[in-house]
Amino acid sequence: MFYEPKDGHGLPKNPFNSLVIPRPIGWITSVDGKGNVNLAPYSFFNGVAYNPPTVMFSAGYNRSEGSDGMKDSLRNVLETGEFVHNFTTWNNREAMNETCADVPPDVDELSMAGLTPLPSTIVKPPRVAESPIHFECKVVQTVELPNTTGPDTYTVVFGEVVGVHIADDLIMENGQIDVGKLHPISRMGYQDYSQVTAETVFTMERPGFHPYAK
Ligand SMILES: Cc1cc2nc3c(=O)[nH]c(=O)nc-3n(C[C@H](O)[C@H](O)[C@H](O)COP(=O)(O)O)c2cc1C
Repeated sequence: MFYEPKDGHGLPKNPFNSLVIPRPIGWITSVDGKGNVNLAPYSFFNGVAYNPPTVMFSAGYNRSEGSDGMKDSLRNVLETGEFVHNFTTWNNREAMNETCADVPPDVDELSMAGLTPLPSTIVKPPRVAESPIHFECKVVQTVELPNTTGPDTYTVVFGEVVGVHIADDLIMENGQIDVGKLHPISRMGYQDYSQVTAETVFTMERPGFHPYAK
């Protein structure tokens, strides 16, 4: 099939979410100007640069009643310029899912999901202790995507990773990350997720020299 998104896809559900898979899940902690903590998952998330390390997440329009249209994470990072990405794993998958609840801005989803806050080293938003890897980030740019086809608006937030925490037991003797032990999860389409285990990892050497290998 071929479709032009502006004309609709003709399927029972929009397939787009299933066509860019698997997606890492940004699990974003932020605070507002008063220090209220917010935590939410964003699978329009990725690393976009090695040097300085930079990540992005994209926040859609908030349709909830009484909302100003902004998701709390976006409002917070626009106000305070900082966020933390907490790595999502098999072990924290259910808590991650709980934190996508649409709750008022002053509700702390980190506590709501029974998670443990850990202070960050450089930025104000706390880390989630149940996550083994954290990126402390400072916002470098936000881009509001133009939309000529409908009411949805997306704002992409780019953050420089200014601090990286890695649980020591994930670092193997050869200095590489033990992905099997990390057991990442990722977002698929519909209500589906996938997981990475030691058995599903495979290796391919790149032809020629890879400048980022070191
Ligand atoms: C796995 C997962 C991925 C999600 N990815 C996104 C996303 O990329 N962009 C988005 O706007 N909402 C996404 N959502 C929905 C938000 O998490 C949800 O709207 C949440 O209430 C936003 O919280 P906030 O207003 O506290 O920022 C996702 C939800 C889940 C469960």
